[in-house]
Amino acid sequence: MQESRLSLALYEPDIPQNTGAILRLAACMGVTLHVIEPCGFVLDDRRMRRAGMDYVELAALVRHESWRAFLAARPFGRLVLLTTAAERAYAGHAFGNGDCLLFGRESAGVPQEVHDAADIRLRIPMLAERRSINVANAAAMVLGEALRQTDGFPR
Ligand SMILES: C[S@@+](CC[C@H](N)C(=O)[O-])C[C@H]1O[C@@H](n2cnc3c(N)ncnc32)[C@H](O)[C@@H]1O
Repeated sequence: MQESRLSLALYEPDIPQNTGAILRLAACMGVTLHVIEPCGFVLDDRRMRRAGMDYVELAALVRHESWRAFLAARPFGRLVLLTTAAERAYAGHAFGNGDCLLFGRESAGVPQEVHDAADIRLRIPMLAERRSINVANAAAMVLGEALRQTDGFPR
């Protein structure tokens, strides 16, 4: 199996169906998914497995018991945080192999210490008066651009 050296990370996700959909995306693209716990559900939640279908077994899933454990393992080159608070648009960023695309929790995004730890912060441009995009859709948009730029799509 060809694997991209990009990776995805979810900070304390709280909706199992979103994590399942992102696991499926990661499995299909050959990308590792880091899940930073605690999650708002148990990781083999029935709803997550249903959204991820049988792709759950094919995904490279790495669990980290906390934000600190994730930082200590540092399983990435640059940490690229996707946040509505960033000024820079993702499509104008030059992604590189080793980049880890980090997404916040559905209910609250990420705390300040996570913002501070990011090497790069990017946003997906949206029309005014819209709060945010579903995290699984945001992950698909940004991972697609990063794979395109790094020639990382499976062949
Ligand atoms: C539902 S959103 C979180 C909304 C949360 N209330 C907040 O204030 O951040 C879940 C995650 O999706 C990603 N996301 C959603 N829309 C985005 C956008 N327009 N630009 C960048 N990231 C976005 C971010 O990683 C965000 O933390």
